[in-house]
This record gives sequence, structure tokens and C-alpha cells, in this order.
Amino acid sequence: MHSDQIVRTFVEYFEERGHRRITGSTLLPPPGDRVLFTTSGMHPLTPYLEGRPHPLGSRLVNLQRCLRTTDLDEVGDDTHLTVFEMLGTWSLGDYDGRQSLDWGYGLLTEGFGIDPGLLHATVFGGDGLTGPDVSSLELWQERGVPVELTVEDNWWSNGPTGPCGPDSEIFLWTGETDTPPQSTPTTDDRWVEVWNHVMMRHRRLEDGTLVPLGRRNVDTGLGLERLACLLQGRSSVFECDLFEPWRRILPGPWPLDERSLRLVCDHLRSAVVVIGDGVRPSNTGRGYVLRRLVRRVLTVLRGDDPSRGLVDLPDELVRHTLDRFRQQEDPETVRRVLLDEERRFDRLLERGRQVLSRPRFRGPLGEEDLHYLHETHGLPRELVLSLRAG
Ligand code: SER
Repeated sequence: MHSDQIVRTFVEYFEERGHRRITGSTLLPPPGDRVLFTTSGMHPLTPYLEGRPHPLGSRLVNLQRCLRTTDLDEVGDDTHLTVFEMLGTWSLGDYDGRQSLDWGYGLLTEGFGIDPGLLHATVFGGDGLTGPDVSSLELWQERGVPVELTVEDNWWSNGPTGPCGPDSEIFLWTGETDTPPQSTPTTDDRWVEVWNHVMMRHRRLEDGTLVPLGRRNVDTGLGLERLACLLQGRSSVFECDLFEPWRRILPGPWPLDERSLRLVCDHLRSAVVVIGDGVRPSNTGRGYVLRRLVRRVLTVLRGDDPSRGLVDLPDELVRHTLDRFRQQEDPETVRRVLLDEERRFDRLLERGRQVLSRPRFRGPLGEEDLHYLHETHGLPRELVLSLRAG
């Protein structure tokens, strides 16, 4: 199933059940928000989860672009991406978690044709503050889906404070055997998480206490690239149709080993989307995330061949990505931002090499040296270490 068809099937399934589609929006959270980027589909909906009436009603569905830097070091494995799209549904004080899971089960098995015998669920088992999520547990037992009870893994929050609650995650078996063995998602990573349903009923306050939200919501999220990879029978997200142009075109200018290719695809695609949402490289905040993405790409590209440069990034990939994420930015502007950043990085490398060749820095570098190099010469720790390693 092509990813566009996956999105259509998902949205129509929920529209038939009374949901209204909202337009997924920018990666940039509204002013005053503490996080740098939208990390989940629920993020732009926070005021409505907290009680404000939504103009489109109490049942919503959408596709939202998200960015997670927590997973940066895992990029290159089969499932993690920096920028990804999340399909989501919301009940704003409308139906309960049991109904949400039941619809989720129906869509996965009937809409997407997944064999029910390949599913596993996890459910919140309760802690000192909140009891076990009995209604989710019962739903899965009625559907014959095995359940693992956990505590930390089944509590979802978007940060230290704000809306949160117990969740139930649905996993799909991806192992070689047709019948999953008696193992659980937390102990066997051949179980891949596809869909998270959060019973968002609490708010965590600054002092750590939990208070009930004004209404009992359900917030669900399902990563599009991950689902596409599973439904298309691929072993990694980088092999689903959404990455097809990247994998086809990029090895032309830059032949790379598989892990490096994945990192370059992920980081460059993410950089294009971040620039498309109006961010420019800088030394702080969002701009610094963008800067790190571009520098990691350059470090990997140059590792094999120092003559490589972003001037060889094919236009088609920039255009394809802006189109995919429904962004209006001019592809030429994106290229210019990337090339300017590359020039800045090259100047910094040059300065780094000069400074590091001084007698003072020839021996092993201590924390104090790294601090000095950063503060006085603007050489970030990561860059100094990579220059020393190279
Ligand atoms: N907020 C939850 C998540 O990101 C469900 O959408 O997993």
C-alpha cells in the first residue's frame, strides 16, 4: 500500500466515525511554548486537550510533521527518523480509550489487512499514584491480543509538566517466524511499536503532582514512515516509498555504506523541512539543531571523500521533500541556506585545524581545553573531537 493510500485509508476511516480533519501544521510550536519543535501530533492541540473548545468539534484526525532530537543517535537503525509524519486522532472529552483502541484494532486488521495474530499490546499496570488501566486490558483480552503490563513505558507526557496519562501501545511482529514466540515488546525488539493511544486525563504540575484534566481525552499517534515500511514488507523505514527518490538518486553523487546513507538521507531531508518551516542555522535553539544536522551530514560525507559537498545535492530531492511536506519555500532558498552553512563550517574547520596544531593542544585534550576551545575559538566539542580523530 502506497503511503498516500495509507493516509487516505486512515483519515477516511476516522471521518466515517465522526472525526473532522484538521490541517497538520508547522514544526514550530506557538510562541511561548517551551519546546523547540513539535514532537508529536498532540502538541499543537495542547490548549484543546486542556479544555478550550475546538472549532471543529470533539473528534479530530490529522497528519502532522514532527521532529525528535532525542532519537538523533539512533538514526541509521531500522526505525528512527529525525523528521517524520504522524497520523493522529483525538477525542476531546468525547469517546473513551476503550473505543479508541477498538477502532485502532479494526483499522489495523480490516483496513490495513494486518494478521491479528501478529499484534501485541502494552498497557499501564499502575503505580503508587494511578491505578492500572483495566479497561484497556479488558479490551485487548476480549480481542485475543496478548498484553504486557508496564509502568514507565506506558505513561506518556510531552514534557515535565502539562497533559499526560497512561497509554496503550500496539506492536507488530516483524521477526522471521510467522508465529510470534512467547516474548514481549519490552524484551524483544522484533516487536515494533506502531500506534500509541494515550488516555490523556491528567495534568502534571510544576511540583510533580497530578491533577485531573477538565475532560477525559484520548490522543493517538502512529508514525507514517514506520507503518508504510511494515505494510510494504520492508525491513527499514528508509526502504518505504517515502524515501524512494532519496535512495535512488543519492548514491549517484555520493556512494555511501548503508548506515551512512541512512544518516545522510534522514538529516538532509530533515534539514530541508526545518528550513522549509523558516528556521535558519544559528548557535542556539532551533537554528542550532539545524546546524548540527547539516554538520553531521558534512562530517559523514567528507569522512570518505573530502572533496564531497552539498553543491551536488540533487535539486529533485529538495523539491520532492518540500512537496511531500506541503511547504511553500523556494527550493533555491533552501539550497542557498545549505550552501552558506557549508561554507561557514569549512571556515570553522580551517580555524580548528590551525588552533589544534598549536603546541598547547598537541597532547590529550582535557575538559578545560575543550571548554577553552569552545569559549575562545568557537570550536564545538564535537568538532574538535572529530578533527582529532581524523
Ligand atoms: N502523543 C502520543 C505519542 O506521541 C500519541 O500521539 O506517542
